[in-house]
Amino acid sequence: MKELKDLSDLLGHEIQVLHEGEKLIIAALPRIIQKSTNEALKAALSQHLEETQIQKQRLEQAARLLNISPEGDGNPSLKGLIAEGEKVFHKDSHPDTLDAAIIAGVQKVEHYEIAGYGAAAYYAEELGLQSIADLLRQTLAEEKATDTRLNELAKRNINPKSAEAVKQ
Ligand SMILES: [Fe+2]
Repeated sequence: MKELKDLSDLLGHEIQVLHEGEKLIIAALPRIIQKSTNEALKAALSQHLEETQIQKQRLEQAARLLNISPEGDGNPSLKGLIAEGEKVFHKDSHPDTLDAAIIAGVQKVEHYEIAGYGAAAYYAEELGLQSIADLLRQTLAEEKATDTRLNELAKRNINPKSAEAVKQ
């Protein structure tokens, strides 16, 4: 069993957990993009997939700086969030409503990541590890921006279409 004695160990643990998460997201996003029909949603998710590849690399860089492996022992929370989000793929749904559901599912993932990156950035700052904190904060800003963009898309574009779906 690995040691978890101080905040530095906890930072390493959180980096590994987040790294497992980013790997799961990189595997899941292409499936989610394929199921979405709204062009603006597809574009937002495709951009986030590209960002996520970089986010995974940032965690690998942070792990190197901390002298640990980025590989952890799985991330059941994110696996569960993705599985929950993908439940809607097995329902007989209207495309606009499926898009609305996809947004909520991806936002749950973003909120999970915002919590993890936020905590890890505070740990790094407490430890005076500014370059690790900067890497984590860069990703945190991207996760927040993705969440905001999806909020806007849902409110302005996709939820109103889903509300009208049966009338079309
Ligand atoms: Fe991410």
